[in-house]
Amino acid sequence: MKFDLLTLFPDMFSGAFSDSIIKHAVEKGLIEISSHNIRDFAFDKHRVTDDYPYGGGAGMVMKVEPLAACIESVKAERPLSKVVLLTPGGRPLKQSFVEELALEDGLIIICGRYEGVDERVRELFVDLEISIGDFVLTGGEPAAIVLVDAVSRLLPGVLGSRQSAEEDSFGNGLLEYPQYTRPPEFRGLTVPPVLLSGNHREIECWRRRESLRRTWLMRRELLDEADLTEEDKHYLRMLRDGGGTQN
Ligand code: ADE
Repeated sequence: MKFDLLTLFPDMFSGAFSDSIIKHAVEKGLIEISSHNIRDFAFDKHRVTDDYPYGGGAGMVMKVEPLAACIESVKAERPLSKVVLLTPGGRPLKQSFVEELALEDGLIIICGRYEGVDERVRELFVDLEISIGDFVLTGGEPAAIVLVDAVSRLLPGVLGSRQSAEEDSFGNGLLEYPQYTRPPEFRGLTVPPVLLSGNHREIECWRRRESLRRTWLMRRELLDEADLTEEDKHYLRMLRDGGGTQN
């Protein structure tokens, strides 16, 4: 999968993809990440990339011409890639949406700055607008790092056999169960005995219940969409009725 990052601040990506899983994915040729400086496509004397908004108002707007030239230059190399605009007004990034994006051939990601981009960029080039959450960043660059990371880890071969994209939070529509590793006791806090029991069926049952309990406590709305068994529903009814504090 190819990621092309269109930005005014390419240095913001230095280091972002040069460690651990993403670094290995690049080295293995599973993903390709390139950044493109939009300023290189501003052909006026001062290489201006932003201007005052028509109609007045605070802040600056990213100009259409440099962005158009940058997008067209990248698109010529990657005709199959989708053009993404990162903006707080976009479609919220959820795991199910990340799964859809992981099926694409490539993403050309526009990192917006200032008060936004000229609307004609949207009209002419943008296939998808994406928000990483209901908050406002100073620009799309941190959001691009989030997007590349979340999509990459779903691609075949990116996570090793010891890691799993299916078992983690949201992979099954629920939050993840608690994890422990050695030592068995730390500052008086012990590992739940069931995890030391070696009884895989009981461990699986405990983990499922913990996932349900955490989701119920922290993100109750996720339960509406989750795939639940009759046993899960029974456990949730118990939680609702004030039980389920003992494991
Ligand atoms: N740019 C600024 N805020 C953003 C957000 N929440 N998501 C994506 N891009 C953004």
